[in-house]
Amino acid sequence: MPRTIIEPFRIKSVEPIRWTTRVQREALLRAAHYNLFLLPSADVLIDLLTDSGTGAMSTHQWAAIMEGDESYAGSKSFDRFRISVQEIFGYRHVIPTHQGRAAERILFGVMCKKGDVVPNNTHFDTTRANVEATGAEAVDLVIPEGREPGTRHPFKGNMDIAALEELINRKRRQRIPLVMLTVTNNSGGGQPVSMENVRQVSAACRKHGIPLYFDACRFAENSYFIKLREKGYEAKTPKQIAQEMFGYGDGCTMSAKKDGMANIGGFLCTNDDLLAQQEKDLLILTEGYPTYGGLAGRDLEAIAVGLQEALEEDYLHYRIASTAYLGDHIAAQGVPIVQPPGGHAVYIDARAFLPHVPVEQFPAVALACELYLEGGIRAVEIGRLMFGASATMDLVRLAIPRRVYTQSHVDYVVEIILEVWKKRGSISTSPTKRRSCATLPPNWNRSLRRTCADRRGFVAGDITSP
Ligand code: F0G
Repeated sequence: MPRTIIEPFRIKSVEPIRWTTRVQREALLRAAHYNLFLLPSADVLIDLLTDSGTGAMSTHQWAAIMEGDESYAGSKSFDRFRISVQEIFGYRHVIPTHQGRAAERILFGVMCKKGDVVPNNTHFDTTRANVEATGAEAVDLVIPEGREPGTRHPFKGNMDIAALEELINRKRRQRIPLVMLTVTNNSGGGQPVSMENVRQVSAACRKHGIPLYFDACRFAENSYFIKLREKGYEAKTPKQIAQEMFGYGDGCTMSAKKDGMANIGGFLCTNDDLLAQQEKDLLILTEGYPTYGGLAGRDLEAIAVGLQEALEEDYLHYRIASTAYLGDHIAAQGVPIVQPPGGHAVYIDARAFLPHVPVEQFPAVALACELYLEGGIRAVEIGRLMFGASATMDLVRLAIPRRVYTQSHVDYVVEIILEVWKKRGSISTSPTKRRSCATLPPNWNRSLRRTCADRRGFVAGDITSP
């Protein structure tokens, strides 16, 4: 295989990005009260705030969009969507939603009640919030290596099986309505879960009669990591791996804004007929009729095609290699990152990057602001500002939108990070103080608002996602 990473696509439509000067960026950052969420996106050169809904669609997706059937009921687009989802995920019921968190709200709304406990490797923050909104408790059971930024492990997203068994025995089966596995583990650094671990979690669930659900947002990246790193899967296609993985579960929630390659959308799957009926009843209340959920027919078409494209091997090779390239090139110069690099993002350990900045002064905010000042790059703080005093890490996540930036953009990001690394000693204090809730974006970062609002803590390991 040649060493040069090339994008497995040609560019047919371009969107200009705008240079700003450092003086302009200083003024822009001041005007945004040092809160990168408040920056107009037009003033950002490379936007690595999230990989969610920020991807570029293919010619096939755009063509499919023209086939969108906007009928209220029985739309042809829903059939194409359902067939595509079922081919990969294999579940009996497919319920479209406007995005992942809507699927979570419906799933937990139907399955959980006060006093229940839901284990996950690591809950994403909307997942945690939706579990907690029902009065249930969200418990993170990622393996110990998954909580240590510098420790290398091929499947750092794995669930701690012994801890799961212990929790099931302690809480008794009737208080655990479901177990969830997040693939890849976004809140743990975009780290994959192995097929062996999936099998073990599934076996533990079956033994106790507890359904297993996947938070499947980045299932294609997880499948490719299994192909690259797990014995026995080298010759399988990512799709075969995904099919096997979902076969060990009873359903899933999905944000199609990630490995659905779409700008909006999600779904909820289950094999349980009764649950599906209850879920559809809730769906109609807030999302829409079950053949469109919260989506237009054209969105369903884009997702039907996107799910298949996310599993293409050329794409996944480039995707994982490009993220690793970014992580490895900065790590080679000493920049401390969560190792190994994840599938969709590289996470910089800001406490290790700026050891002289006291944790109370938000080193990850200081670093994220500095990346913007130095090169117009927008990343996201995941640490004490987001999760309050209980945060054990202060990370800066560089999330890579799908099929959007080229390798020269990645080289540029490496260059800027290394420039900031060189002058790290002069970054003496955080340029911001804790923001008041009033300055926070209205709905994107729920945990941040919640943390500000009630100062409730999160346990270690929950802290790596917006
Ligand atoms: N689960 C995981 C693992 C996620 O990463 C996200 C979203 C969701 C669920 C919710 O999906 O946004 O479609 O409602 N993650 C984005 C991010 C926001 O930036 O990591 P959604």
